[in-house]
Parts: sequence; structure tokens; C-alpha cells
Amino acid sequence: MCGIVGITGVPQVAYPLLEGLRRLEYRGYDSAGIAVAKAGGIVCYKEKGKIKELEEIIDLDDLDASCGIAHTRWATHGQPNRENAHPHLSGKVAVVHNGIIENFGALKVALSNKGYVFHSETDTEVLAHLINDLYRGNLEKAVQQALKLVDGTFGIAVIHADEPRKIVGARRGSPLVVGVGETANYLASDVAAILGHTRQVIYLDDWEMAVLTPEGVTTTNIDNQQITKDIEEITWDLDQIQKGGYAHYMLKEIFEQPDTVLDAFRGRILPATGDVKLGGLELTDWELRSIRRIIILACGTSYHAGLVGEYLIEEYARIPVEVEYASEFRYRSPIIEPGTICLTVSQSGETIDTLEAMREAKRRGAKVIGITNVVGSTIARESESGIYIHAGPEIGVASTKAFTGQVTILTLLTLLLGRRTHISAEKGMQILEELQRIPDKIRQVLDQSDKIREIAKAYAQDHNCLYLGRGVNFPIALEGALKLKEISYIHAEGYPAAEMKHGPIALIDPQMPVVVISTRDGSYEKIRGNVQEVRARHGKIISVVTEGDTEIAALSDHVITIPPTLNMLTPLLSVIPLQLLAYHIAVLRGEDVDQPRNLAKAVTVE
Ligand code: G6P
Repeated sequence: MCGIVGITGVPQVAYPLLEGLRRLEYRGYDSAGIAVAKAGGIVCYKEKGKIKELEEIIDLDDLDASCGIAHTRWATHGQPNRENAHPHLSGKVAVVHNGIIENFGALKVALSNKGYVFHSETDTEVLAHLINDLYRGNLEKAVQQALKLVDGTFGIAVIHADEPRKIVGARRGSPLVVGVGETANYLASDVAAILGHTRQVIYLDDWEMAVLTPEGVTTTNIDNQQITKDIEEITWDLDQIQKGGYAHYMLKEIFEQPDTVLDAFRGRILPATGDVKLGGLELTDWELRSIRRIIILACGTSYHAGLVGEYLIEEYARIPVEVEYASEFRYRSPIIEPGTICLTVSQSGETIDTLEAMREAKRRGAKVIGITNVVGSTIARESESGIYIHAGPEIGVASTKAFTGQVTILTLLTLLLGRRTHISAEKGMQILEELQRIPDKIRQVLDQSDKIREIAKAYAQDHNCLYLGRGVNFPIALEGALKLKEISYIHAEGYPAAEMKHGPIALIDPQMPVVVISTRDGSYEKIRGNVQEVRARHGKIISVVTEGDTEIAALSDHVITIPPTLNMLTPLLSVIPLQLLAYHIAVLRGEDVDQPRNLAKAVTVE
């Protein structure tokens, strides 16, 4: 995820700025840049790749100043390259930005009409031009006016060559913290960047701004009213900060899901018409209606997201879908007919089997669409069009937030396709209304983490575990089992609940915990029957049920609840307790959850 550092009041400011960027490296990034304010103008260097590569091109004499800003970028709009890296400049203004400007298209047109020239594909560049356009000798005023014209999220740091000792920061939806020093002041998206200089900080809230000079910090709201903020003392060490106070990246990423799901649909839904816009798809309505068949290619967790997609697209958009392991698809002779599109689903965008399967599909005439997290990854580049999930870097090897991001995107795609064929405006509106409630409902499930930890204690020493689900929750059973296998090394299988009687039932005894996803939907009665079969054989039952359920709860040893939602959105909630259960069991067994044995985050070799 992008990182911001700003410092004013330190001679040779480039050194501490680069040091601050290094402290943010753990967040993941694909390019970096630095700009300082000098009386003559802004001096800026940026480069694709690592901070080391930026250091190779900069001239430290040229950067000799005491006030500057720096950035590590994780691409969201446009490829990771030098042009798209931050800072972005306009005249004497330099801006670094985290977040997404949703109305950047309209602003870009307006600014281009005024003669501003755009050098990058980013949404951030509009901010630089906008602030420059509104500047009349007072930077904070220009920033305030610019931000009133902007929709979306931001954490920004801005400098101007005419006020070369000043940094203006502002936030809406993207974190920003001010570090208060003796003779210098600091601004960052993450305290890790400034911890080496000060432990006295002010956390900005949404709609707040800070103006920093070496002498002091003033805080205002976006309407320029002064506000008094408390100075807090940081007691965490660097490792704790990098994990956001969580014990592991995996847990941090599980807890990020209310935000990452929101980021996946933010700016893409049209609640008033029950429709969706997915700009990156580059398909006309006519092309969308001409799709006759969809093949989803993926591996691992992404494959399970693809299976959820199959249930959704077939049921709501009525288009035949096949989901295939990419490794199988690439080595057989797949049939691709006219009107077939291939969706390649991959967090990293680098998994070799998925990449090669995509190339094979392309060779045979399919239109290929990438659903990836890493902007500019090979799959993103080689697919004809794509949709990014915007989950931010996923560091834990066991994928969690990327999965819910992928499912969110596949839900949006279902609605996009369905609204052109089978889904009414009213139904579309109902789905979108409920989708907007999902982040809060995920929070409600996360609130049960301690309770799930208690449940985990009863099963941490077991050797096997069975996961059952039906319909759209069958892929969730597979994903729950995969999570447990990956990080706890307990043998686990996911099954469609009704298939249990065709084999796994033979294994059920008091040593076989069975996790059953049994939410209130059309198959509730059936799944209750499956639970009774397990109980009759003295299997231990952990059930994931809809709040208020009493029937299956009464048959279970342990119950985890999820809030009621539309059946099609259930996977976004039902997977959360299974991620937490796997996590807590692995921790109780003393395993290294972020680096499980034998597994890699991106499998780029066969
Ligand atoms: C590896 C990872 C899994 C991931 C799979 C597919 O096995 O350990 O977590 O689901 O690759 O990765 P992708 O980046 O293509 O989604």
C-alpha cells in the first residue's frame, strides 16, 4: 500500500525522507519518489522499482533543502512506472497521495480544457493541477478549495516552492499522522516512517488538515476552522506498528476486510439504477450481451473465489460458467467457441499456471479478462482488459483479503451481466443496498474473534477436520479447509454437504470435527439433515449459522453466527469465521502463520 513521508525543518532533508520510505517498505510498493521545496522551484526525482533504484538516480546536492515529501506507490491507476510514480507536479506544486480520486475523469477533462497537460495515468495528477490552479499565495487555502471538488479517498501531503518551509496534509479515508518534534515536524501515512524522530504524534481524522512548518503544527478542518487535537505518545515498537498492532500479517489482513471489500466496490456501483460500472472491462453493452460462455481460470484460493463466481453468474446472469484449475486447462486441448470469455483470477497476477492458461485461452481466440490485485502484474498486462480488486498488498502467505476482494468483484460482474439480461432494476438496487451493508456486517463477524479462539482451543490438537457447505457456501467449505491445511498442517477436506454420505461419513467419529456452514437459505432443511447425520455418529459440530438460528445451533457443539444477508452475498460473511478459526488453531499449535512451510506467496515456477 502506498506510503507518505513529509519532513520540514531538517537540513539535507532527502536523507531522513529516504530513511522514512525504507521504514514503509514492508507495506509493499512498486515505485518511489521524492520532492523538495526550494525557493527556485520544486526538485523531484522518482523511479520505478525499489528505493535503492531511486537512490541510484538522485543527486543529493540538487535535493539540498530542509522541507520535502516522499512516497512509495502501490499502483492503483496506471502501470508502475516513473511517470505514474509520486510526487506529481504542477507548476510549483508537488503532491503525494494515498487513496482513490473517484471523479478524476471529469476533473481531468475540466483541467485539460484550461490547458493543463497530464504526464501520467494516475488519478493523483488532477490534485496537483487543481491545487496549482487554485493557488493564490496560500497553500492551505488552495488545498482546502481543491479537496472540496474531489470525490473519493485521500491522505495527501503537498508542498509549494513559494512557501518552501511548509507542508500541508489532509485526510479523508486514508490515514495520516503528524509527528511533533523539537525543531522539525513530520507527516506520514504510518507512524513507522517517523518513529526514529519522534514518539509524539497527532492522528488526523477524516476532513481534517494539518499545516506543518519547522516551528509548529496547526490543525484545522477542511472549512479552515481551527481544531485542537491531542498529542499522543507512541509506545509500540516498529514490528508491532508494521503489523498494525496485530500479532501476524494474516490477522491484520483478516481484520482489514471491511475496508478492502468497500475498496473493491467503491466508485463502481450505481445504486440509483441498480447497476455497476467496471471501467477496466472495456466491453460495450452489446459485447456484454453477446457473451455465451465464461471460463474462470485460477489456482488455490483464487480458484475458490472463481467457484463462488460460477454460482453467482449462472444463477443471476444465466450465462454458463466453468471454473477450471489453470494447471489442468493449460495442458489439455480446451474448446473455445465464439462468444467465450476467460476470467483469470489471481491475487499476484504472476502465478505461472494461471498465466500460461490465460495465454493458451488467448491463443485459441477467447477474450481474456484479468481479475488481479497487483497492478501492472504480468496477468494484468497481458489480459485484454481487467478489473483490479484494490485490496492493497497481501503479505500473509495464506490469502484472506484478496479472496473477499475477488468475490466482491465477481459479485459486481454478476450484476453487470445480469442487469443486461435477467436482473431487474429493483433487484439490482436491493443487491447494491445490501452490498453496502456488508463491510459493517463483516465487522460484526470479526467481533467474534475471541469467541472463535476459545472454540479453536478444543480442536487445536486434532488431526483431521471436515468442512461442509451447500450452494454458494460449498466453495467456502473448500476455502475453509484450505486455510486450515495451509497454516496449521491439519488434514482438512471441504465437501458439498450432501456428498458426505458418499464417502466421508465413514470417517466421522468423536475425533472428527465437522465445520458446517448452514445459513438460512433454500437448502437449510437439507443441511440440517446432514448435521443430524454427523451428530448420530458422534462427530463434533462447529456450525456457522445465521443470527437467530436455533435449530442447527441446538444440534451443534459450537456455534458462530453471521448477520442475515442476501444469499448471493453470504460468502463474504461466512468465510470470515473460517479464516479466523484456521488462524487461531495455527497460533495455538505454535505455527508461523505468515510463513507456512513449503508454501510461497506467488508460485511463479512449475
Ligand atoms: C499460492 C498461494 C495461495 C494462492 C495461490 C494462487 O499457492 O500460497 O494463497 O491462493 O498461490 O495465487 P494467485 O496469486 O494466483 O491468486
